[in-house]
Amino acid sequence: MTAFPSIIDKYLETAEQVDPIKCVGHVVKVQGLLIESSGPQAVIGELCRIEVPRGKGVIQAEVVGLRKEVVQLMPYGDTAGIEVGSRVIASGRRLEVPVSKKLLGRVLDCMGRPLDGKGEIASRVRYPAAAPPPDPLKRKRITQRIATGVRAIDGLLAVGRGQRVGIFAGSGVGKSTLLGMIARNTNADVNVVALVGERGREVNDFIANDLGPEGLARSVLVVATSDESPMARLRGAYTATAVAEYFRDQGLDVMLLFDAVTRFARAQREIGLAMGEPPATRGYTPSMFDSMPKLLERSGASDKGTITGFYTILVDGDDMDEPVSDTVRGILDGHIVLSRRLAEAGHYPAVDVLGSISRKAQAVSGPVTREAAGYIRRLIAVYNEAEDLINVGAYHQGTNPAIDEAIAKKKGIDDFLVQGVDEKSSVVETLQVMGEIAGVEIPVEEMQSYQKGTFVLPDDSYQDAAGEDRPDALEEAAEQADTAGQPAADGGPEGVP
Ligand SMILES: Nc1ncnc2c1ncn2[C@@H]1O[C@H](COP(=O)(O)OP(=O)(O)OP(=O)(O)O)[C@@H](O)[C@H]1O
Ligand SMILES: [Mg+2]
Repeated sequence: MTAFPSIIDKYLETAEQVDPIKCVGHVVKVQGLLIESSGPQAVIGELCRIEVPRGKGVIQAEVVGLRKEVVQLMPYGDTAGIEVGSRVIASGRRLEVPVSKKLLGRVLDCMGRPLDGKGEIASRVRYPAAAPPPDPLKRKRITQRIATGVRAIDGLLAVGRGQRVGIFAGSGVGKSTLLGMIARNTNADVNVVALVGERGREVNDFIANDLGPEGLARSVLVVATSDESPMARLRGAYTATAVAEYFRDQGLDVMLLFDAVTRFARAQREIGLAMGEPPATRGYTPSMFDSMPKLLERSGASDKGTITGFYTILVDGDDMDEPVSDTVRGILDGHIVLSRRLAEAGHYPAVDVLGSISRKAQAVSGPVTREAAGYIRRLIAVYNEAEDLINVGAYHQGTNPAIDEAIAKKKGIDDFLVQGVDEKSSVVETLQVMGEIAGVEIPVEEMQSYQKGTFVLPDDSYQDAAGEDRPDALEEAAEQADTAGQPAADGGPEGVP
């Protein structure tokens, strides 16, 4: 007798022991967004494929709830075509994003797949879309500023590398335009732009007008537009964050530009309500309040690199206390408020300097810079206070020296704060003008301290972005990552919280 039959027997025996119900289930109900199936055996967060009958393809879905034998799923796409009995096949894995330096210049969908028709991103390195934030005790402290190229921010609301800031504004006040300016002019090594829940038309506008070819070359865009399913919008936010984490793990300074957190929160609300969660304030369900810190805490500094985050928040009816604004404000290290009044007056970027705060501005600015910024803030406050009097001609010069000074410097301050979309301003230029307004000379040491690290003027960084002269760290790290096959053992995100 040969060994051949016994091997077959062994395989047959093993095959008989496998319970196929475990990885294949069947749809029993589709209600609105929620799909329920009997089986498969799966865990929360696991990806499943739902087969659309009659060869009409598959729909990706994620397990969001488990009740006895019923598995609740949320689709990444449209539910059209699914019927009772459609097969649901568990993948055994959660959403992972292929990452590599080749992502630069690319536009991805919510699952990290290319949307731009420039070919597959073949990478063996995959990062989990949902990952825990860096260990709080291992986070590097924020001590160095990052350039945004926007004078109002670099001058009066200095932001540190690894700081997370919210941009709060009503609709159409200039949030996206401001993000575009930062993307083009920042001295961060890499931009990751998350366009979550925005209008489809805005994506191409953002790429062509706000980012431009140079900005795009050193950016990665992750897009989940408003017409996509809430799951796609939710996971688009996670995917973008995972891409930023990959570049941070390479020791780089990453700029994460997120437009808009409000749409992320609304996607979470839609999912929560579909699953039967109780609505709380303004219909937001408890899962929104739970997922917000989990998303926002992932950016910031780690022990390797930094992710500086700018998150836009749409403020309904300019109400800064609505639940999303309130929750986000409590988590982030600063907020920039854009004022409709300023925008209407053509004062762009419409940054309400006095209503905004950067909690790390003091830590990343030198003493003379702080003095100059404080002086300008005081003059703006004095002018605003007296504005009505001044406008009706009730104020007479010489009555109050502080008001006289504020009036005298008003034009200089406005010229400083108003900045054209295409106008570039380095930190050094910004500080020089600020020093002139305040009548102080910002010492060279303070100026130089801003240039530490990788300050690159935009023209040079465009060359970097084209891959001709990239920072060594990025080259080396990317090569290592390409060959390593998986994230660094001690730093790469592992598992899903
Ligand atoms: N820096 C700027 N200079 C001149 N115009 C600007 C500037 N920023 C914004 N605008 C004007 O404001 C309009 C709206 O800007 P933007 O799309 O950035 O606003 P938004 O807050 O992102 O809007 P939404 O809430 O709809 O997403 C622009 O089309 C443009 O006309
Ligand atoms: Mg916008």
